[in-house]
Amino acid sequence: MITLDMTGKVTLITGAGGGIGGGIANVFAQAGAKVYTADLEREVAQAKADQLQKEGLLAEAVELDVTRKAQIDALVERIVKTDGKIDHLINCAGIMISKPYMETTDDEFRQILEVNLISVHNCCQAVLTQMIPRREGKIVNILSASSRMGSDFYSHYSSSKFGLMGLTQSIGLAAARHNINVNGICPGIVVTQLGEKQGGGLVQQMARYSGKPEELLQENIRKSIPLRRFQSGEDIGYTALFLCSDLAANITCQAINVCGGMRMN
Ligand SMILES: NC(=O)c1ccc[n+]([C@@H]2O[C@H](COP(=O)([O-])OP(=O)(O)OC[C@H]3O[C@@H](n4cnc5c(N)ncnc54)[C@H](O)[C@@H]3O)[C@@H](O)[C@H]2O)c1
Repeated sequence: MITLDMTGKVTLITGAGGGIGGGIANVFAQAGAKVYTADLEREVAQAKADQLQKEGLLAEAVELDVTRKAQIDALVERIVKTDGKIDHLINCAGIMISKPYMETTDDEFRQILEVNLISVHNCCQAVLTQMIPRREGKIVNILSASSRMGSDFYSHYSSSKFGLMGLTQSIGLAAARHNINVNGICPGIVVTQLGEKQGGGLVQQMARYSGKPEELLQENIRKSIPLRRFQSGEDIGYTALFLCSDLAANITCQAINVCGGMRMN
């Protein structure tokens, strides 16, 4: 039977306390999956799980630092012990630092690669260890328009997301022989807290460096999107749900733009 009903499925989402991860969690929980909302920040992970539970949906909060391999391994072991399996892994945790290339430091570069790239490798390997024997499972990595195009303003972020594109394709090849699909989604622009803890979101930083008001920059960006609106976390969630469904059984190693037509490559 062809279905988007995820009843009985178990979905682990990293960065689920954030804007995009939160939208993805809404969509998977509404589709019937039990959702593990994992985030570095216990409070936001808990708030998301509480919201879903109040709606009568299945969710459990997890505090997880994706840069800590031991924490990932322990979490995967615990979920498998409780639920018997993990059907879907959505790697959404990420950080961004926006500043001109010549102002970036080595430490910032390392930090971005650690969170946005190496941690995804660790999460994929841990989850694949239990997916492979079952010959079943789906992984979706949240990439970016910056996976396909460099930028002076977020060179290390772009490098991490280019790397994540390569990792997605490579893990996809390794997993294909085990009947497991690995894909990526490139969101356009979703208004979230991304970058705020690292000194300011993209538009804030562009405003600071250009001297133009934030609202004007936001509006100019919005007007450059053919469908004339920013994306929502749920827009990304619907595509992730499709990629994890039977309908996408023959799709792997791909990166899908969800950007209102802003990018076409
Ligand atoms: N917002 C956009 O326009 C946009 C566009 C393209 C791609 N993305 C990507 O989408 C993903 C989610 O971003 P967002 O916009 O929702 O940002 P966000 O800041 O709202 O959410 C990111 C979440 O990741 C969590 N996180 C950070 N470091 C972590 C760690 N070490 N371990 C576990 N969790 C950690 C944060 O606590 C936060 O809740 C990121 O990978 C980002 O690069 C965002």
